[in-house]
Amino acid sequence: MATRFATWLDERLGWRGVWRSIFLRKVPKVNWLYPLGSASLFVAINQIVTGILLTIYYVPTPDQAYQTVQYISGEVPAGWLIRGLHHWGASALVVLSVLHMLRVIFYGSYKFPREVTWFSGVGLLILVLGFGFTGYLLPWDQKAYWATTVGTRIAEVTPIVGQWILLVLRGGEELTAVTLARFYGMHVWALPAAMLLLLLIHLYLIVRIGISQIPGEKD
Ligand code: HEM
Repeated sequence: MATRFATWLDERLGWRGVWRSIFLRKVPKVNWLYPLGSASLFVAINQIVTGILLTIYYVPTPDQAYQTVQYISGEVPAGWLIRGLHHWGASALVVLSVLHMLRVIFYGSYKFPREVTWFSGVGLLILVLGFGFTGYLLPWDQKAYWATTVGTRIAEVTPIVGQWILLVLRGGEELTAVTLARFYGMHVWALPAAMLLLLLIHLYLIVRIGISQIPGEKD
């Protein structure tokens, strides 16, 4: 029954061909440094799932943000686990994607024909850091408030456009409800949309081109 339905769908969607080229493609013999990209992908998916769950209770306003985060950690069933996975996942994603990038540099995997894969990776790393920066403010506690005060001040020392960047980031001179709304909007809408787009490009190219061999290794 299930096989007949799968065949019925395949005749209309051609999904078996897509499945074959993604999951049954031939890969070269590699070593344990190569799955760092897949590990980054796994943690990125963890961030998406746990992030969506956190938005069920989190409220991005100065009078609610801190309380709702406390409520998630203390009262919501498994809330501490979801928040913990999201919190530690953020750091793990930075570490894993940097290690993955170092692997790519070390084996020269950024060279022809993988330049666009590399550029999309650079974009992904910038987004991962952007997630960290915007997410840090969301608990709206003392650490979050002062870290963002310092972080936005650092941006202010950019030559010529520094003051403008500070105003855009904060939505005014000070850190206010506008800043929190802005960071939340970036964290849950703008950055995820950009990330999804870059991930699709990155993964499409990996499937299309195939992953590189270890230099000098015969397959
Ligand atoms: C969220 C971050 C990222 C995710 C989820 C991700 C995911 C992946 C995956 C699953 C692969 C397949 C092969 C492998 O695992 O090595 C890959 C390959 C690749 N990635 Fe990433 N990546 C990320 C960040 C980056 C960064 C920061 C760079 C470089 C600046 C980069 C450049 C590349 C390149 C050039 C390849 C092709 C490697 C080869 O063919 O050997 N990626 N990526």
